[in-house]
Amino acid sequence: MTDRKVNPEPADGKLLVLLQGLGAVSTTVIAGVDLWRRGLSKPVGSLVEMGTIRLGRRDNPEFRPIRDLVPLTPSDDIEFAAWYIIAANGYDSAKNAGVLTPEHLEAAGDALRKVEPMKGAHNPDTVRRLDATNALDTSLSKRAQADALRQNIKDAMAKAGATRAVSVMIMSTEVYQEPCEIHESLEAFESALDADHAAITPTQLYAYACLREGVPFANGTPNMALQTPAFQELAKETNMPIAGRDLKTGQTMMKTALGPAFKARMLGVEGWFSTNILGNRDGEVLDDPDAFKSKEKTKGGVLDSIFQPELYPDLYENYYHKVRINYYPPRGDEKEGWDNIDIFGWLGYKMQIKVDFLCRDSILAAPIVYDLALFMDLARRSKWRGTQEWLSFYFKEPMAAPGAYAQHDLFKQLEKLQNTLRYLGGEELINHLGLDYFGSDLYAD
Ligand SMILES: NC(=O)c1ccc[n+]([C@@H]2O[C@H](COP(=O)([O-])OP(=O)(O)OC[C@H]3O[C@@H](n4cnc5c(N)ncnc54)[C@H](O)[C@@H]3O)[C@@H](O)[C@H]2O)c1
Repeated sequence: MTDRKVNPEPADGKLLVLLQGLGAVSTTVIAGVDLWRRGLSKPVGSLVEMGTIRLGRRDNPEFRPIRDLVPLTPSDDIEFAAWYIIAANGYDSAKNAGVLTPEHLEAAGDALRKVEPMKGAHNPDTVRRLDATNALDTSLSKRAQADALRQNIKDAMAKAGATRAVSVMIMSTEVYQEPCEIHESLEAFESALDADHAAITPTQLYAYACLREGVPFANGTPNMALQTPAFQELAKETNMPIAGRDLKTGQTMMKTALGPAFKARMLGVEGWFSTNILGNRDGEVLDDPDAFKSKEKTKGGVLDSIFQPELYPDLYENYYHKVRINYYPPRGDEKEGWDNIDIFGWLGYKMQIKVDFLCRDSILAAPIVYDLALFMDLARRSKWRGTQEWLSFYFKEPMAAPGAYAQHDLFKQLEKLQNTLRYLGGEELINHLGLDYFGSDLYAD
């Protein structure tokens, strides 16, 4: 056993999961949780529910379910609430999203209908192409909107009888925005809030309202809300965990699994071309070039940190990386992510790899939202605040410790997550050295 410095509090009482957006991903999470907790499906894709962790040596291992290692909220104690700028409850929205089969939709109908949309903070200039029918009055000041969102949190928690809440942002992608002077400190941000500054977008209002209400905040979208000194300061001041950004689901998950394999074998890469066709509402919003720019940024940065071209110029200098997303309505949520990778090996001989991932976007994203909600709640009960780097595993562009580069390699991220859970569970960490298995046999006479 390690000398435990962190001792998570028990997960007593109900946990309210607050979602921004009640679209394809959100409704798939809500339906999925309802179906498997009633024994009608299995929580496939959820590390929290299906994962085990090795404790002890490989010659006498124990594989303990993650749920038995650390105190996580029982699935029966989870409730959902959502802000949504469209006047539709979870059922109508799920039906419109077209992810679930009619059988699943009906089976989870009651749980979906229970989620009535709270009025969302909306700005038609930052999320375009949507017809908002359930938004807060845009003539309200930003401060008044933040206050309304804070009141929503209080009301939703009271309605759910929740002792704690956690938020996972899963709304549409806003147009690309660089942080500016109002994001440089919490003071500057709060003054800007009072001055109704135009650079404050709805995602920032949500993050602000949640953190101020003591709600840990994970950002599943490419929106930049948390990646600023102002929000880092706010998380510190409110003692709240934060994590982001943009869920790592289909193509980027493949990229962060395959990229490290080429690098591990010192194979060179000349180019990596990634394209997608998808026809859901996410695709429609991303068809706006300014919104796509946000996505391009989170999808595009992944390979540089894996390949480290500055360290390996012979292998990766000037490799060409291109990412495209094409809105193609016939496919709905059933995205096709296609990659062509030009690699080279011994003596510079060229090879190609093609990946054609016929995936379902929301099916991949839903268990991640679920895991994040439970792990963020665990972080808060462990009295951790600020960036939760151990949750990098779930993000396309993970937030890292100050001054540190972000780790993108999927399996290194998993190792970190597992060791963090061992640590929180008061168990020995595993460093994979393993020399002790051989004892003195290892050493030549
Ligand atoms: N599905 C995936 O694999 C995946 C992976 C990574 C990130 N994401 C991101 O998750 C987000 C949601 O994806 P989705 O497929 O559910 O999209 P979706 O379009 O089905 O749902 C998002 C919903 O958010 C709503 N919305 C927009 N602005 C809002 C606001 N200000 N307040 C409240 N609601 C608002 C929209 O009405 C929309 O219906 C997107 O930003 C997407 O890029 C998805």
